[in-house]
Amino acid sequence: MKIFIDSANLDEIKKANEWGIIDGVTTNPSLVAKENKDFKEIVQEIISIVDGPISVEVISTDAGGMVKEAVEMFEWSQNIVVKIPMIPEGLKAVKILKTRNIKTNVTLIFSVNQALLAAKAGATYVSPFIGRLDDIGHDGMQIVRDMVDIFNRYNFKTEIIVASVRHPLHVIDAAKAGAHVATVPFNVIEKMFDHPLTDVGLKKFLNDWKKVPK
Ligand code: E4P
Repeated sequence: MKIFIDSANLDEIKKANEWGIIDGVTTNPSLVAKENKDFKEIVQEIISIVDGPISVEVISTDAGGMVKEAVEMFEWSQNIVVKIPMIPEGLKAVKILKTRNIKTNVTLIFSVNQALLAAKAGATYVSPFIGRLDDIGHDGMQIVRDMVDIFNRYNFKTEIIVASVRHPLHVIDAAKAGAHVATVPFNVIEKMFDHPLTDVGLKKFLNDWKKVPK
């Protein structure tokens, strides 16, 4: 399973990239707004840091506007994946962008039917928002399992990005479900490193090493 970082923060992206564990980046308008910087500048910096797919979201809500934004963003780098909201106009745009070989990530997916429609339209990726479903008492990961089954059965090429990840268990469950990608916030990536026995073990190794005659 690929791991993307779900962030528009350049320090976080740089650190995670140096750790050698990320395959791509996803952003959204809320993540970009937190950075209080020019949008294009942020995206171009991300492009210079990470050699992999970088999802950047359109703001238009009509197909024509989305396609125009997408074409402009794609000129910045061929690694750009255009994030398109899961609405009828969005899928219209996905179909047009596919004919121009521009990759898309259909976002704000909360049901299996939405994912099926996005795949039919030719989306490169679909992003089910697991944490937000869990927040309202649904079993977010169940829709991922169903999507994996259906996409495999009908041989859809669309990849599933498990999004709205809240904790390390979501990442394990995404991998167990057979998702292609989990996009993970920086604080969750940090938690994935942690184990108290690693800390205790390292401390003991370093202390014992001091006893080795030199
Ligand atoms: C991913 O593409 C989304 O931008 C993100 O995972 C949403 O996460 P949130 O529900 O924590 O805002």
